[in-house]
Amino acid sequence: MKSLAVLHASQLVTLAGPKRPRVGAEMSELGIIRNGGMLIRDGTIDMIGPSNEIEKKSRDAEIVDASGRVVLPGFVDAHTHLVFAGNRLDDFERRARGETYAQIAKAGGGIWSTVEKTRAANDIDLLEQAKKHASWFLKCGTTTVEAKSGYGLTVDDELKILRVIRRLKDETPLEFVPTFLGAHAIPHEDRQSPQRYVDLVINEMLPRVAKEKLAEFCDVFCEEGYFDIERSREISTAAKKLGLKLRIHADQLSNSGGAKLAGELNATTADHLEKTEEQGIAAMKAGGVQPVLLPGSVYSLGSTCYPRTREMIETGLAVVIATDFNPGSSPSPSMPMMLSVACTQMRMSPAEAMTASTINAAYSLGRGDKIGSIEPGKLANFSIFDCEDYRELAYWFGFSQTSSVYVNGERVTW
Ligand code: NIG
Ligand code: FE
Repeated sequence: MKSLAVLHASQLVTLAGPKRPRVGAEMSELGIIRNGGMLIRDGTIDMIGPSNEIEKKSRDAEIVDASGRVVLPGFVDAHTHLVFAGNRLDDFERRARGETYAQIAKAGGGIWSTVEKTRAANDIDLLEQAKKHASWFLKCGTTTVEAKSGYGLTVDDELKILRVIRRLKDETPLEFVPTFLGAHAIPHEDRQSPQRYVDLVINEMLPRVAKEKLAEFCDVFCEEGYFDIERSREISTAAKKLGLKLRIHADQLSNSGGAKLAGELNATTADHLEKTEEQGIAAMKAGGVQPVLLPGSVYSLGSTCYPRTREMIETGLAVVIATDFNPGSSPSPSMPMMLSVACTQMRMSPAEAMTASTINAAYSLGRGDKIGSIEPGKLANFSIFDCEDYRELAYWFGFSQTSSVYVNGERVTW
């Protein structure tokens, strides 16, 4: 049996607590052990406690001396569009000159330009680029990501992306949770007949995805001009019947009822929510939906319209923070950057932001029993950061404080 002992963490931030997502005041309880340590056996956490007690039990173990640095559970990023070809540097520059996301999309940029590049790329090229993205996530201390399709928009191209995600699972240390987002945009060839594309998603894509077990979740970009409430309901209902769980891009550009739909369908998550108001928040609460807030896209699009985070926390919703990593609206894999924006712009405390990006995110992916905290029985996915206090991760910004990252007890960064 292989044993590893991590000793002398200035703070072992365990997030130990009830076996469910954390709400309200619970989001501030991080279960910190000062001068903490943990014992790992065969990739699983065996014991946690004061460093001197762990040291006594670690006679045969390889020692990792955290020497006064913070140890955190690996971040869990519950919303990424990680597989795509190329970049959107031209959109970026146009936005800097004052054009909006919507104007750029109309003028041939936006999601569609990434779809064209992704369709043209073969699976090997997509895999290579995605592996590079995966290494960026690991360097930022993220050990699990949700990854969506959505830049293919044909049966073959959507399946191509989901198969790349499956290979990434096997070929990188990062853990992946796959989501089918065929309903990301109406492809140009169906612009005059959007219902034809909705039927394709429902009758051809979803059954293939379910049969080949290529995704755990189905997502829809619920927004006027993309998939309206009716079409989002139709697609999500079909997905649910096939056994997929639901996530919904809701109320990002307008308060169009996406959060309410998520509540009605008991979706696992409603994501974005920049324009969601009281009714949407109440519907999420009634439907047991977790809000996934994406500060990176608000920041990167130069908007100041952040979601009503305090209201959501006060309503008792189990808030999640994620990167929304994608080439258009959020080209950042960095959870520490998201923590910074959450604390400076959304009035989350550093502790709430930490809970939102670890244990709550893990529950939103159906993996709360395996990851998201440092507790006996969980996978030894954790990071060591070059600071003494976990709050420094959100406080200092714009550079990496990562010292080392471990997945299943194995070091994966150098
Ligand atoms: O989550 N809102 C839809 N999808 C992405 C943007 C994708 C893109 O611009 O390529 C988002 O922000
Ligand atoms: Fe997104």
